[in-house]
Amino acid sequence: MKNRQHWSSRYVFLLAAIGSAVGLGNIWKFPYIVGEHGGGAFILVYLLCITLVGIPVLIAEVFIGKTAQANPVAAFTNLAIQVKASRFWVIFGYLGVLTGFLILSFYSVVAGWSLEYLSVFLQNSLLGFDAKAIEDHFLSVLASAPTLLLWHSIFMVLTVIIVGRGIKSGIEKMVGIAMPLLFIILIILVIYATQLDSFAQTLHYFLDPDFSKLNTQAVLIALGHAFFTLSLGMGAMMIYGSYLQKNTPIVRLSFGIAIMDTLVALLSGLAIFPLIFAHHLEPSSGPSLLFISLPNALLALPFGQFFGIAFFFLLLIAAISSAVSILEPVVAYLVQKTQYSRGKIVSMVGAIIWLIGIGVLLSFNHWSEVKILGNNIFDSLDYLTANILLPLGGLGIALFATWILDKNPKTSIGMVGIPHKIWWLATAFLAPVAIITIAYNGLI
Ligand code: TRP
Repeated sequence: MKNRQHWSSRYVFLLAAIGSAVGLGNIWKFPYIVGEHGGGAFILVYLLCITLVGIPVLIAEVFIGKTAQANPVAAFTNLAIQVKASRFWVIFGYLGVLTGFLILSFYSVVAGWSLEYLSVFLQNSLLGFDAKAIEDHFLSVLASAPTLLLWHSIFMVLTVIIVGRGIKSGIEKMVGIAMPLLFIILIILVIYATQLDSFAQTLHYFLDPDFSKLNTQAVLIALGHAFFTLSLGMGAMMIYGSYLQKNTPIVRLSFGIAIMDTLVALLSGLAIFPLIFAHHLEPSSGPSLLFISLPNALLALPFGQFFGIAFFFLLLIAAISSAVSILEPVVAYLVQKTQYSRGKIVSMVGAIIWLIGIGVLLSFNHWSEVKILGNNIFDSLDYLTANILLPLGGLGIALFATWILDKNPKTSIGMVGIPHKIWWLATAFLAPVAIITIAYNGLI
C-alpha cells in the first residue's frame, strides 16, 4: 500500500509495543489476581502461560501484521487471497475490531480511577482518614456516576487526541516520553518498598507456592491474563507490527516485549505487596486492592503522599500507552474502509466507545442490578473479552500464522532450524490445544 505510515525505527516499535503490553493489566490486575489465587503458585502458572502460549502467539501476531502491512481486517483478507486460503479467516479480523470497542470501553473507566486517585493524592484529601473512611471514599466514587463519567471522559479525550495525531506525531512521541518515565517511577517505587520489613514477607509470598488455591478457574484466568497483558488476540500487536518495515526480523523484538512486560508485572507486585503487608492488609481483596488497600497503606507510611502521586501517575501513563493501542487497529481499519479522515474516524469511534463506557460506569451504581449471566456489565465485559474473545482471537492468529502463512514459501516467517521448529510446534499445536482445553474447562 502506498504512503503507509511506518515507525521511525525498530526501537520505537519496541517502546510502543511495550507501552501497549504494560498497562492496567500489569499494575492493577496482575497484583490482585495473584492475591486472589494464592500468590506464588498462580505466578508459576502465569509464567508458563506467557512462555508456552503468549510468546509464540505474540510472534505470530506481529508476523501477520508485518507481512500484510495492513490493518487486521485487511491483513486476513489480503493474505488469505494471496495464499489462496479460505476467506473465512477474515472473521478473526472483525472479531478483533469488535473486541477493541469492548475492551477500551471498560479499560477507560478503570483508567479513570487512576485519574481520581492522582487528584486525591495531589490534594492530599484523604489525609487523616481512617481505614473505613478510605474504603468509603472508593465506594462513593463508584457510587457517583458523574465522578466516574468525568474521569472516563478525560481519559477518552486524551486517548483520542494521541491516536488522532497518527503514528509518528501521536503514539511515537507519547511513548518516547511515557515509557522511560514509567520505568524510572517503577524502580523508585520498588526501592521504596524494599525499605520495609514486609519486603521479605512479599518474597515468601511470591516464592512459596500454595497450590491448594489453584483450580481450573485459576488456570483459565492465568491464560486469559497472558493474552490481555501481552495485548494479544485483537490485532493491537498486529497493527503495530504492520508499521514495521517488511524486512524487520521480529523474534527478538517479540521476546523483548514479553520479557519487559513480565518484568513490569513482577516489579509492580514487588512495589505493592510490601505496602499491603506492612499494613497487615489482605492481598486477596480483589479489584479494590489498588484503590482501597494501597491508599490505606500509603497514607500510614512516611512520604506516603509523594509515593501515592508517583504511583497513580505511573498507572495513568501505563494505561494511556495501552489505550492508544486498543484504539489504533479499529481506527486504522475504518480509515482504510471509509476514506474519512483519521480525525473524523477517531472522534466517531471515540464517541461510540465513550458511550459504551457510560453503560460500564453505570453498572457500578444505577445499573448495578443489570446482570448478564449473573454478572454486572463491567464484570461481564472483562470476563467476555479476557477469557473468551482474546483467547479465541489468539487461536485464529496462531492457526493462520502457522498452517496458512508459514506453510506457503512466499509468506513464510523466515525463521530456520530449531528455533523455527520450536515456534511452529508451540504455535501450531501447543497454543491451540492449551487454549481449547482451558477455555472448554473454564466455560463449563
Ligand atoms: N496489555 C494491556 C494491559 O496489560 C491492555 C491492552 C492493550 C490490551 N492493548 C490490548 C489487551 C489489546 C488486549 C488487547 O493493560
